[in-house]
Amino acid sequence: MAKDIDWDKLTFSLTPTDTMYVAETTGDEPWMPGDLRPYGNISISPAAGVLNYGQGLFEGMKAYRTARDRVVFFRPDENARRMQRGADRLKMPPVPESIFIDAVEQVVQANIDWVPPMGRGAMYVRPLLMGSGPVLGVSPAPSYSFMIYVTPVGPYFKGGMRAIELLISDEFHRAAPGGSGGVKAIGNYAPGMMPSKMAKAQGYAEVIYLDARTSTYIEEVGAANFFCIKDKVLYTPELTGTILPGITRDSIIALARHMGYEVVEEKVSAEFAMSADEAFCCGTAAVISPIGSITHGDNKVTYGDGTPGTITTTLYDKLTGIQNETEEDIFGWLHEIPL
Ligand code: PLP
Ligand code: COI
Repeated sequence: MAKDIDWDKLTFSLTPTDTMYVAETTGDEPWMPGDLRPYGNISISPAAGVLNYGQGLFEGMKAYRTARDRVVFFRPDENARRMQRGADRLKMPPVPESIFIDAVEQVVQANIDWVPPMGRGAMYVRPLLMGSGPVLGVSPAPSYSFMIYVTPVGPYFKGGMRAIELLISDEFHRAAPGGSGGVKAIGNYAPGMMPSKMAKAQGYAEVIYLDARTSTYIEEVGAANFFCIKDKVLYTPELTGTILPGITRDSIIALARHMGYEVVEEKVSAEFAMSADEAFCCGTAAVISPIGSITHGDNKVTYGDGTPGTITTTLYDKLTGIQNETEEDIFGWLHEIPL
């Protein structure tokens, strides 16, 4: 039974669904598959490691309804592995890939009526891994919870494929060398809220962060990776440990190379990016969002006429075409969810 919601009005916001998934373990026992339960509040100790010391990770992935009348994930094994790398970094027990994949499949199956029709949004799947047991000293929690909830979503930035205006921050950084910027630690996100709100109050869609060491090179756009295109060559910041290794980023690199474009992964200075022909940011939530302008201090650069660039649009069509199966899945990225 399709849900009574106006799919065309979906934004990137929470619509509570029916069912969530929960698995629990102590730090010493191996993970066992969890179970489905009604979506709702959880009970947690006030001394939980996640509440006191931020011992927590999240993931973000989407399930798409496709032209072949299937529901698919896009490279879910990559989300599973990224969460494992994050678990290692935050001293949590990694969830085995088979349990992760089985769990995300189960939650989508249980909420299947909430998956939007093809091309009108997607089901956003949010796995969480946290130190849920009580601990007072700064050390790993005695027990852990792996939870997943889902929600139908529309575009991350207002207006969908409309080009966005961005502001480079000279004052704030997202991640420092040796820190947690390269994993999806929950603690990476709250410090970005104030800079992001400040930029939005000035009419920008998001902040661009520069590297913490020299404030010279572009790292990320809020919670999305950055690309620019100059003379038909794509440039994206190399992964130095302070940048989240985006699965969309990795997919765009592979797709662009397959389409015959040169892709360079290296340090991308703000100055260079502002001399490029096109720019966009990308992520599961952001998909490919064209950048219309970048402002840095008194300097504002508009790309072309401020509308999505040609190569950006071609890549968007190719990526979303694979995800909704109007294009061939040449890399074997889709994972069918049995219904
Ligand atoms: N950068 C940050 C900080 C993110 O939180 C995300 C979202 O997951 C991304 C980039 C994009 O990664 P992905 O393409 O895997 O969604
Ligand atoms: C994603 O793209 O999935 C993200 O995690 C970005 C944001 C919603 C945190």
